[in-house]
Amino acid sequence: QPAGTIQVTENSFIKKLQASGRSLVVFYGSQTGTGEEFAGRLAKEGIRYKMKGMVADPEECDMEELTKLKDIPNSLAVFCMATYGEGDPTDNAMEFYEWLKNGDPDLTGLNYAVFGLGNKTYEHYNAVAIYLDKKLEELGATRVYEVGLGDDDANIEDDFITWKDKFWPAVCEKFNIESTGEEELVRQFRLVTHAPVDIIPNSVFTGEIARLHSLQVQRPPYDAKNPFLAQIKVNRELHKGGDRSCLHVELDISESKMRYEAGDHVAVYPINDINLVEQLGKLTSANLDEVFSLINTDQESSKKHPFPCPTTYRTALSHYIEITALPRTHILRELAEYCTDEEDKKKLLLMATNSQEGKDLFQSFITEACRNIVHILEDIKSCKPPLDHICELLPRLQPRYYSISSSPKLHPDTVHITAVVVKYKTPTGRVNKGVATTWLANHKPTDGDYPRVPVFIRKSQFRLPLQTQTPIIMVGPGTGLAPFRGFLQERAHARANGKEVGDNILFFGCRHRDQDYIYKEASSALFNKWELEEYSKNGNVTLNLAFSRDQEKKVYVTHLLEQNMDQLWDIIGNRNGHFYICGDAKNMAVDVRNIILKAIQEKGGKTEAEAVQFLKKLESMKKYSADVWS
Ligand code: FAD
Ligand code: 2AM
Repeated sequence: QPAGTIQVTENSFIKKLQASGRSLVVFYGSQTGTGEEFAGRLAKEGIRYKMKGMVADPEECDMEELTKLKDIPNSLAVFCMATYGEGDPTDNAMEFYEWLKNGDPDLTGLNYAVFGLGNKTYEHYNAVAIYLDKKLEELGATRVYEVGLGDDDANIEDDFITWKDKFWPAVCEKFNIESTGEEELVRQFRLVTHAPVDIIPNSVFTGEIARLHSLQVQRPPYDAKNPFLAQIKVNRELHKGGDRSCLHVELDISESKMRYEAGDHVAVYPINDINLVEQLGKLTSANLDEVFSLINTDQESSKKHPFPCPTTYRTALSHYIEITALPRTHILRELAEYCTDEEDKKKLLLMATNSQEGKDLFQSFITEACRNIVHILEDIKSCKPPLDHICELLPRLQPRYYSISSSPKLHPDTVHITAVVVKYKTPTGRVNKGVATTWLANHKPTDGDYPRVPVFIRKSQFRLPLQTQTPIIMVGPGTGLAPFRGFLQERAHARANGKEVGDNILFFGCRHRDQDYIYKEASSALFNKWELEEYSKNGNVTLNLAFSRDQEKKVYVTHLLEQNMDQLWDIIGNRNGHFYICGDAKNMAVDVRNIILKAIQEKGGKTEAEAVQFLKKLESMKKYSADVWS
């Protein structure tokens, strides 16, 4: 079929490619923006290889057109795809993924490459990218370069630049092109500043996520793009000592029509530290109250602005940009251009290269020293980039998710959050603070004045068994206790209402019994009658407690689980029970999983392979569920 006769639909990426003389399309499956950012970088770099590129969101494209991409000469489709949860694609790639899985399109002639974004601490490491890479080949497409796997637990930036440094030569060879060699630094967004007289009244964004005035004029339904401005009704410290802080926060959702279930997540849109915002303004000699817009120079792009515009620099830095994220190498490359000192410039350029020396310097100067953009500009003194370029380069500020620590049966009008405040000293002597938890820590209600924060609820798969009689084991050290507080409330409520409720067995761990044993007992300041010790006394929970630092030798929940393998097997093997784990994905979740496998082998009399199969079956039946984060 000649190129001119391709049927075009509204979501035709082929039409867009043709209209602008492009042959490279980079799709992304992205939840937090990294996949989208990588896609943008690849599309932009195409120019160096005479391949003009375009970024595309599969959700906004007619993906069946992949069968026709071959009609554009020397065309290439790249996929930057993240894997989430239990090996799932991101929301925006779901439909595409299902189409590939269930359909049988003929993709002969389609040239492709895949880069995956995953995290090795999770079980289904990069499952989506691996599947996609294999499936496209099965459907007849031609792999131009091997799949790249990025590990967010280690150094995904490193994985990405290492992959693309080999990917581009493979592309050149395939299409017989020579690199232009030059690296062209082109701005993706054009700056427009608005003089006060030109500003249309009420047209300037002040922190809304998408729709103008959406926070002033609230309209349900509420979701990620249209969050509900919830009042913080309660915000109190849970730790009784030690140098860390853990917050119990209650958000009022009574006016929102939002519903939740125990096990769901609530997402919070945070605001950056005002001091950092001011400091960034100073370092770039910007007027933070100036109203500006950034406008995409790519007219075919569906993303006209990187964040809601027009807005002020102060709003952009406070609400829209992740200013405390550690900058990636391409940002350092762009910053280098603004150095007046040659040594400074060399240093930034070196960190942006793929050489071992460059990687080592990036590792020590950025990653280990935890230097964000403010710290970089403070320490590389001759670097004076304009603030609008920084606004273009840094990623968009993301909402933070929290496992809801209440049950709607007891608290239909509030969702509870249990959050440890992130605060740590860096090797350069600075104190870095977590964006959301620091904001929450600084916003306590006073005398009937309730601070407000934009939130939405995200349904999860982490659910209690349908039958209340089913026994459950919950493993949740630290803030991993959060969803189980909701589960316990739910089951105690059922029991109080005459239902038969199965065993509730909780494994909780913290450092010290008298410091960070959160929700130990009911406090008059919390409107809950019962917490763990009361629940334990009246038979609503069996507690297994590990206070890791109260004795010489560390005791963890994992040690207690190992001592209770008979009970473990009895519940999951004989009594049809459910097993839940929540909290740290990196070490704890992996250790717990291994103990379960051991219990299935030793107490259930199975081989290693059988135990793995058994656990997989439990997972598919939702009898083994994890709610873990890193
Ligand atoms: P950020 O500004 O995002 O900073 C955090 C980052 O700082 C870390 O990612 C790390 O890169 C860096 N960092 C932190 N400590 C150090 C250190 N010592 N050295 C170097 N770098 C460091 N959290 C809870 O407290 N309770 C919950 O119930 C909960 N549930 C969650 C459920 C889900 C599904 C997910 C995905 C996450 C959950 N989290 C929970 C984590 C939560 O979303 C936030 O990541 C956390 O509160 C930190 O957010 P922040 O904005 O304060 O910190
Ligand atoms: P630690 O900080 O003394 O090492 C909540 O964070 C609790 O979980 C703390 O008591 C912590 O102990 C403990 N913990 C740390 N690593 C763990 C692991 N791999 N498995 C279980 N618990 C762990």
